[in-house]
Amino acid sequence: MKSILALGLGLLSLATAQTSFPKADGTRFNIDGKTGYFAGTNSYWISFLTNNRDVDLVLDHLQTSGLKILRIWGFNDVNSRPNSGTVWFQLLQSSGSQINTGADGLQRLDYIVKSAEQRGVKLIINFVNYWDDYGGMKAYTTAFGGSKEGWYTNARAQEQYKKYIAAVVSRYVNSPAIFAWELANEPRCKGCNTDVIFKWATDISNYVRSLDPNHMITLGDEGFGLAGATTYPYQYGEGTDFAKNLGVKNLDFGTFHMYPQHWGVPNSFGAGWIRDHAAACKKAGKPCMLEEYGVSTDQCNVQKGWQAASRQLATEGMSSDLFWQWGDQLSSGRTHNDGFTIYYGSSQATCLVTDHSTVAMFSKPLTGLVPLLCALLTFITPIMSQSQVRIMALGDSITGSPGCWRALLYRRLQTAGITNNTKFVGSLPAQGCGFPYDGANEGHGGILATQIVSQKLLPGWLSSAKPDVVMMHLGTNDVWNNRSPEEILVAYGQMVDWMRESKASIKILVAQIIPMNPPNCRECGQRVQNLNKAIPGWAAGKNSTESPITVVDCWTGFDTSRMTGDGVHPNNAGNEKLAGCWFEPLVKAIK
Ligand SMILES: *[C@@H]1O[C@H](CO)[C@@H](O)[C@H](O)[C@H]1NC(C)=O
Ligand SMILES: *[C@@H]1O[C@H](CO)[C@@H](O)[C@H](O)[C@H]1NC(C)=O
Repeated sequence: MKSILALGLGLLSLATAQTSFPKADGTRFNIDGKTGYFAGTNSYWISFLTNNRDVDLVLDHLQTSGLKILRIWGFNDVNSRPNSGTVWFQLLQSSGSQINTGADGLQRLDYIVKSAEQRGVKLIINFVNYWDDYGGMKAYTTAFGGSKEGWYTNARAQEQYKKYIAAVVSRYVNSPAIFAWELANEPRCKGCNTDVIFKWATDISNYVRSLDPNHMITLGDEGFGLAGATTYPYQYGEGTDFAKNLGVKNLDFGTFHMYPQHWGVPNSFGAGWIRDHAAACKKAGKPCMLEEYGVSTDQCNVQKGWQAASRQLATEGMSSDLFWQWGDQLSSGRTHNDGFTIYYGSSQATCLVTDHSTVAMFSKPLTGLVPLLCALLTFITPIMSQSQVRIMALGDSITGSPGCWRALLYRRLQTAGITNNTKFVGSLPAQGCGFPYDGANEGHGGILATQIVSQKLLPGWLSSAKPDVVMMHLGTNDVWNNRSPEEILVAYGQMVDWMRESKASIKILVAQIIPMNPPNCRECGQRVQNLNKAIPGWAAGKNSTESPITVVDCWTGFDTSRMTGDGVHPNNAGNEKLAGCWFEPLVKAIK
């Protein structure tokens, strides 16, 4: 026990030592050395609080909720000096402007940054509002003339805006609590050529980069202007082109917002909006952040679906979502309810915050006594309870979304008395299957085995989940994309190598996958058979006593016309069938 503790503390000091700037790691974010998907939220009002204890309370609540990223307003522009006691950051006047670095000015931001540093929360700070709240571009045009559309090219406005940026950035240039600098909140240029915002974003991001080589920079736009559909948000009329702006060198990730109610589209619009942005981000090789989203009715059900849709694309371009907006009980009372507010401690918060953030990786920073004990415990637990078997279901949408055969399989294990020594592991959460079950998994919708290998996705999943048993059902999407059995088995082989690097005695169950008969691929049925036929020979060649491979036949007796709705994904009957094929091999592997 003593040596374990010493080792645990060693691990801990290593972890606390690696404080670094958040960054992009391909299409995913990396915070404090961990690459993954991160949940967060927005609070515009926190920047204008005058009571430090209220700031600390909010950040405490964010920390305990597991929310890692907080987006705040970094601007508060006025055209005349307010009465004392009112917070303002910049006075804009043609006769001479002033940046307020006093106690009712940028020192308010200083306190938030300090509080965030202490709690491992990362901040997105933006420099100007497109909207007139807290001044915005309007405050600049009031001082310097012109229209909001002209703001992006107004020399005097831009000169002062850059001075303001320099004032803010210089204060926190070395802070690990800055997630990213953001050029504006929801910049639009109605009826303008999309070059206007593109050129402005290029110029300003270059400028920010010249001041700060380390922190990420992003635009803060709503993601308007995108190929894929013709509804209002996809159009270019607000002057932004999402894919084009992703090409700006010093913008490190893409942002988009989502308010179907405001945009005249149904809530079901959300999944496609997320998918299309993720695809653009993937193409650009930068992460996507769903930076604001909200509905004012049925918040839990609607937004839970959006969060799941975003997480499902965690390796396909999406790396974070920040709901709008955080609500809390301050010394002055409840914070502003604009109809979208999710209050700390409410049932909506349990649904959209607690449940959601527990699946985002590494949400707890390693500071303070309680996290310290947690860190020690997570380290010790696998050693003390050796009998616990960690099981990873690895695959595509057949396994993950919703993959209700895993729920049925879990229930069968319970019925068989295997009730307390299994744990299903993976970065994706259980989806609704009608009853609670242990449903963490690595079933990534749309994924190919060859892609898992080319993008080296599995080592990260393994090091987080640390499985003792892997059940793998993969190849459907490879077959659909006409990858040959040879290519797929090479990928299988690499995956097995990674699994054994993760744990030398890992037990590996490999499915002969279920048949498929999608309308757009008549040859797929035969291709599945060709793959399945090659699996046993491959498995025997790769087998070892220390880390046995078991081939699991899920193909025989699976009838696509009866057991799927679309020729590919199992329906209830298909889920029963899949639970059945896995059950016995899994029980043997557990024992
Ligand atoms: C489950 O746990 C209890 C108490 O921790 C133990 O007595 C029992 O033997 C365990 N059952 C199985 C099937 O492991
Ligand atoms: C691998 O070896 C184990 C025994 O160590 C055996 O039970 C299993 O059937 C073998 N798997 C294959 C695919 O040959």
